[in-house]
Amino acid sequence: MSDAPNANQAAFWNDAAGRTWVEAQDPLDRQLEPLGRRGMAALAPAGGERVLDIGCGAGATSLALAEAVGPRGEVLGVDISAPLLDAARRARAGSPTCGSPRPTPRPTLSRPAPSTPPSHVSG
Ligand SMILES: C[S@@+](CC[C@H](N)C(=O)[O-])C[C@H]1O[C@@H](n2cnc3c(N)ncnc32)[C@H](O)[C@@H]1O
Repeated sequence: MSDAPNANQAAFWNDAAGRTWVEAQDPLDRQLEPLGRRGMAALAPAGGERVLDIGCGAGATSLALAEAVGPRGEVLGVDISAPLLDAARRARAGSPTCGSPRPTPRPTLSRPAPSTPPSHVSG
């Protein structure tokens, strides 16, 4: 085990947990969707806002947020798990609103260094 910040979580989510989550993504997304909706209602993202989605997982919330902030807004989804980020990138590419060539919201997905605080929003 490493002493690096988040080392346990990085190991957990980059191994079986991340792969299992990707395999079960559809039912998990359906299961979590009501929670995401409540979070979205509380956040009430407005057009043009910039949002940091920490622990974006397979990207469902990042895509919903991108839809909410619109083409003038920006969503940065960050996650510690390579398999889940891969799934999120596939979801973004397949999204009718985020994958098309028109200027639509596209969440940026990146993997932070384990010790990097979430203060590196680009823009
Ligand atoms: C329970 S999943 C939820 C994923 C997503 N937010 C959703 O609603 O579907 C938790 C996510 O947090 C990520 N995570 C855990 N620790 C993290 C950390 N220190 N930094 C970034 N992401 C982290 C995991 O990789 C995983 O994708």
